[in-house]
Amino acid sequence: MPTTLTDLSRDPWLLPEVDALIGANMPAFMSWESPGNWRWHGMYDRYPAHQLCLVDGDGRLVAAANGLPVRWDGSASSLPSGSDDALVAGVDHAPPDRPDAVCMLSVSVDPDHRAEGHAERLLTEVRRRAATDAPRGVVIPVRPTRKPRYPLIPIGEYAAWRRPDGRCFDPWLRTHFDLGARQLGIAERSLVIRQPVSRWAEFLGHPLPGPGDHLLPGALAPLRVTEDGHGTYVEPNVWVHHPAGPDTR
Ligand SMILES: CC(C)(COP(=O)(O)OP(=O)(O)OC[C@H]1O[C@@H](n2cnc3c(N)ncnc32)[C@H](O)[C@@H]1OP(=O)(O)O)[C@@H](O)C(=O)NCCC(=O)NCCS
Repeated sequence: MPTTLTDLSRDPWLLPEVDALIGANMPAFMSWESPGNWRWHGMYDRYPAHQLCLVDGDGRLVAAANGLPVRWDGSASSLPSGSDDALVAGVDHAPPDRPDAVCMLSVSVDPDHRAEGHAERLLTEVRRRAATDAPRGVVIPVRPTRKPRYPLIPIGEYAAWRRPDGRCFDPWLRTHFDLGARQLGIAERSLVIRQPVSRWAEFLGHPLPGPGDHLLPGALAPLRVTEDGHGTYVEPNVWVHHPAGPDTR
């Protein structure tokens, strides 16, 4: 299906559609209050040209990629600690005069249009733009799409899993590696959501009577309930780096 590339600086009316697409593609708790989520719309306001959209011939949104420019010296140790941290830095502070890199925080494709190359097209476009605006390329705290099936496996071990053919086990990480990205490290605390146990219990549809680690559908790791009556979800991601410019395969 032919699609047209645009962004929120050119077509700001797409903003509610972008939110709806991301919301429908993620478990509901992923948009609850967190330092990053509080600033999500601040990212749109400040960096509308970094909010890429693919629309079909009828103007419907098919895929979106959301990010922001960051300072980065090229080392794993100078990366933000994750998605929350990148949003706090990018929204609360003045934008870098000359950004080093672009940090992509979300790529979302309409479920009816998966595996059609839209995600790859968006990643390729961000890299192409980085060649002029962000010479160190594109960094992404990746949320591996099959990880919710293995919430008890540490993220670093999961990311290292390989198929018998030697390619990465996780399909979304595989897409990045196939495009020439490399793994930079693990963001153990990319996004942190702390809420009263009652809210988590309502979401789960069953009580959480005691402290401990509880399974949370759609999460990459267990929900930790503590004696203070709160539950905290700490989402781990995998940092990957795409060089600026064309595909390097
Ligand atoms: C992650 C996401 C953007 C990838 O988009 P996509 O169009 O599926 O991307 P790709 O075409 O590169 O597919 C990746 C792999 O998943 C497979 N795949 C995608 N959709 C599939 C489907 N419906 N059924 C089976 N396999 C599917 C593809 O075949 C590919 O595997 P391959 O490398 O063996 O060919 C998309 O799945 C999505 O929007 N997910 C929800 C939001 C999300 O988790 N985003 C990532 C974190 S920000």
